[in-house]
Amino acid sequence: MPPESPPDLGPLDFGALFHLRGKTALITGASSGIGLHVAQLYARAGAAVALAARRVDRIEAAAQALRAAGHRACAVPMDLLDDASIVAAFDSAEAQLGAPLNLLFNNAGVLYAARFVDQDMAEVDRVLDTNLRGNFRVAQEAARRMGARRDGVIVNVASTAAFGTGAQLSSYCASKAGLAHLTRILALELASRGIRVNALCPGNFDTDMAETFRDKGFDQNLIARTPLRRFGQLPDLDGAALLLASDAGRYMTGVALPVDGGQLLSWM
Ligand SMILES: NC(=O)c1ccc[n+]([C@@H]2O[C@H](COP(=O)([O-])OP(=O)(O)OC[C@H]3O[C@@H](n4cnc5c(N)ncnc54)[C@H](O)[C@@H]3O)[C@@H](O)[C@H]2O)c1
Repeated sequence: MPPESPPDLGPLDFGALFHLRGKTALITGASSGIGLHVAQLYARAGAAVALAARRVDRIEAAAQALRAAGHRACAVPMDLLDDASIVAAFDSAEAQLGAPLNLLFNNAGVLYAARFVDQDMAEVDRVLDTNLRGNFRVAQEAARRMGARRDGVIVNVASTAAFGTGAQLSSYCASKAGLAHLTRILALELASRGIRVNALCPGNFDTDMAETFRDKGFDQNLIARTPLRRFGQLPDLDGAALLLASDAGRYMTGVALPVDGGQLLSWM
């Protein structure tokens, strides 16, 4: 018997797979770094975007620039440490964009570095309350709304710190490991409500957060341990950020996807 020939699936239409037309997105921590970059990326890919952050002047200016470029964008104040502001931000985003949210980029986070024996418990609380409790509450609010319409995608921004360990990063690594595992639990629970949940796990990217590494002199060591021998630049995240958010990733849920120049491969 000759082998069955594969079906002719025709040419691939990458634009049809990776676009975000029909998506109404909320991006947290959108005043700087990865959040601001991804808000601009998702707008360029066709989504209506709500930029959420505490620094309202910055998100207002970014949303205004996106509107001037022909995109649909708005700014909504949100503090992850204030549950009422989270609900208000979702309400405001849906009212301003005129559509229910069906994409969340759950990105806001804080870093704190100190030796374990010296970790200040006020700082530990801030890290866990922001990176774990805050992102939990934002995902919960999104799931309640998206689940009612059985239409949603959640991208949690964890970190390679969810898998690797880092001296002086005990509270941060614990928070990101928790967020990566929460991602798997939500993927399992929310699939029946029409919601996919994945985690994007950046390695070391050149943002304000990376200043902490530079200040402590960690950066050269990190680059030396990264097989691709450089820090990530924000556009290095674009492919993964679009894959997880778009129909290109429609059969992916519960994945924690590293984008790290191979850093996790290098354990010594
Ligand atoms: N830069 C990196 O190398 C790297 C690596 C792995 C993961 N990450 C993660 O990426 C995410 C974005 O970080 P970044 O690198 O863009 O740094 P960043 O400091 O530029 O961005 C963090 C954002 O979160 C916001 N934020 C912090 N606390 C908040 C709160 N209580 N309420 C609302 N917003 C709050 C900040 O204002 C800021 O806009 C974070 O979750 C971070 O842990 C970054």
